[in-house]
This record gives sequence, structure tokens and C-alpha cells, in this order.
Amino acid sequence: PTYEAIDPVRFIGNHSSGKMGFEIAKAAANLGAEVFLISGPSHQKVNHSFIHRVDVKSAEEMYNACHKYYGEADIAILSAAVADYRPKNVATQKIKKKDSSLVIELEPTKDILKSLGEAKKNQLLVGFALETENEVENAKGKIVKKNLDLIILNSLQDKGAGFATDTNKITVIDAEFNEKSFELKSKKAVAVDIINEIINKVS
Ligand code: CTP
Repeated sequence: PTYEAIDPVRFIGNHSSGKMGFEIAKAAANLGAEVFLISGPSHQKVNHSFIHRVDVKSAEEMYNACHKYYGEADIAILSAAVADYRPKNVATQKIKKKDSSLVIELEPTKDILKSLGEAKKNQLLVGFALETENEVENAKGKIVKKNLDLIILNSLQDKGAGFATDTNKITVIDAEFNEKSFELKSKKAVAVDIINEIINKVS
């Protein structure tokens, strides 16, 4: 996830565990890739000599870290649950409780994946799509809009798929709109499937 500060003690976040991203990093490293794992706040742990962990908090920090490493990368896989909005003004002091309702104005964050699609040279760029309706159509739209080579679609309509679970069920779609659906599996096994699909694309 990313955390978007409201004031020094509060933030807007989401329920992402980070598990899918960490498993992908491990699957790639186990095949000999040098991995820069840019992670928002997560309880996941990793100890692998090929994985360099880069910790960030907000969408803006994640954007900066992604652009720092992207130029040298062969493959970029974006599985983070990045906040789409953040508080427009971050209070410098803790907001005090009042009797009236509190309105927090939100502004859009930068779309990291889209910006990497625009900056793409020879990298293979892989995005994720989390959808609840018109899943395949929306995922294909994201391939075009964000200039992707592959998209990994999770449907929240599939039981056991998505956030904060140990399992996931994915459909992989490429830029020619070929689709391949996989069974419900552990996130560790799904990560291996994703890396294999990427290897098929680059070889
Ligand atoms: N993503 C990103 N930067 C953002 C938001 C999302 O890089 N500010 C990336 C995610 O990591 C994922 C992909 O974009 O790889 C799609 O994220 P998703 O939440 O499914 O789609 P959105 O583009 O945010 O569109 P919507 O919420 O309208 O479906």
C-alpha cells in the first residue's frame, strides 16, 4: 500500500498486504534476476542476496523511487496498491477534534505506471489491474492507456483473489490482447506463473 498523510499522526491507506509483490520479487531473484523491490509500508520480510529493498511511504515517494531505478531496468512489474488520491493540504499539527464535521479535500496522485509507460525505452512493462466489473475490457483499456506489455488482472469477483489473502487468481493479457487464465493458487505459485509469462515474452 501507500500511506497518504493527513496530519503528523494520521494517513489514508488501504488493505494491501504487499504479499504478491514480495513473492514476485523472490520468484525473479530465484531465477538470478537482480531485483529492486520498491515497497510501501508492509509487514512482509525478505532476505535474498539478489533483492535490494527500497522502502517508501507515499505515492509521491514511490513515483520518485520507480523513476530512479527504471532507466537501468530490463523489466518493471508494478503490483503496488498506490493511492489514487491524497489530502491536498497536509496539516503540520495534529488536527483537533471539533463538534462539526471535517472535510478533507483530496487531489489525484501521479499515476506511476502510466508515467513509466510514457518513459519506456526497451523495458518490458507489466501492470496490475484490480477490477470488480467489466474486468477484461477494463484491463485491456489499461494496456493501451498506460503503454503496457502485459497486464495481470485480478477480479474481486473471484473468491480468494486480491488483497490480504494468501491466494490469487489471475488472467494475463498481453498487448495483442491474448488472454491466459490461471487457476486459484498460492501467491507464491502465482508469482512463478507471472515470471514465466514474462520470460515467454522476452525470449
Ligand atoms: N498504479 C500506479 N500509480 C497510481 C495508481 C495505480 O502506478 N497512482 C498502478 C498499479 O500499481 C497497477 C495499475 O496502476 O499496476 C492499475 O491500478 P488500478 O488501481 O487497477 O487502476 P487505476 O489506474 O488506479 O484505475 P481505476 O482505479 O480507475 O481502476
